[in-house]
Amino acid sequence: MDTEPTKEANGKNYPSVTGIGRDEHVGMVREIFATITGRYDFLNHLLSLRRDIAWRRFAVRRMRFFSTFRLLDVATGTADLAIEAAKGHPGVHVMGIDFAPEMLAVGQRKITERGLAERIRLLQADAMTLPFPDGSFDAVGIAFGIRNMPDRLRALREMRRVLVPGGRLFVLEMNSPRSRLWRGFFAPYLNRILPVIARLFSRNPAAYLYLVDSITHFPAPPAFLALMEEAGFGNRERYSLTFGITSLYIGSAGDNEEKTG
Ligand SMILES: C[S@@+](CC[C@H](N)C(=O)[O-])C[C@H]1O[C@@H](n2cnc3c(N)ncnc32)[C@H](O)[C@@H]1O
Repeated sequence: MDTEPTKEANGKNYPSVTGIGRDEHVGMVREIFATITGRYDFLNHLLSLRRDIAWRRFAVRRMRFFSTFRLLDVATGTADLAIEAAKGHPGVHVMGIDFAPEMLAVGQRKITERGLAERIRLLQADAMTLPFPDGSFDAVGIAFGIRNMPDRLRALREMRRVLVPGGRLFVLEMNSPRSRLWRGFFAPYLNRILPVIARLFSRNPAAYLYLVDSITHFPAPPAFLALMEEAGFGNRERYSLTFGITSLYIGSAGDNEEKTG
């Protein structure tokens, strides 16, 4: 795929993430997630053929709670990971943060409808400066969020800071199209079919072209694992999901032994 600006027929277009500064990237992300809220869940499930639900469930099944019994869901958006975790771990309390109030409003509605308001709290906050003391959570999750953060090292360090020693980070993220399967099948899907679906269903289809661009320029798994190491995460693992379309990265904080079992 190329690095041309992402264009859209209705006039709106976003520059490629490779050609802009961090502040402009963050401003663009804020605008995008303020404008795609209405159809976000619907399009997420449609465009991933509902695999996104299975990917979040896969991550939640690997979470362990042993000290604070609290999970932080960073970039929670419409709270799908937070809800999945609350359902999968009945004794646990979940805090979801996101900087887009429009996404949080949808998430809050879903939490209330499912009777989970006692156990999930949402807060408007920036992942770059998490408003929690060190060692507040047994687990931190971030699903399809880190790609949208230009300063990923800072985001990873913040997430590590708020984990208890031995606590673990769970990052779900799409892989960039480097494998043969990606190039043969998924890249054409992203470049041709996804924009058409987005144009049909979204009021801001350019946002979905940004999505393709941001996936394309996300680091390959070895580079992302190296970034996790730089941020201080040990016991790093990667699971490749659905033919490598998505990765789950896990890393543990502190020198304590990883909690499993
Ligand atoms: C693709 S959505 C993912 C939402 C959700 N985690 C999911 O699994 O569907 C990315 C989210 O990241 C949020 N986001 C991006 N940068 C952020 C930042 N620096 N701080 C907080 N939220 C951020 C956006 O507002 C958006 O809701």
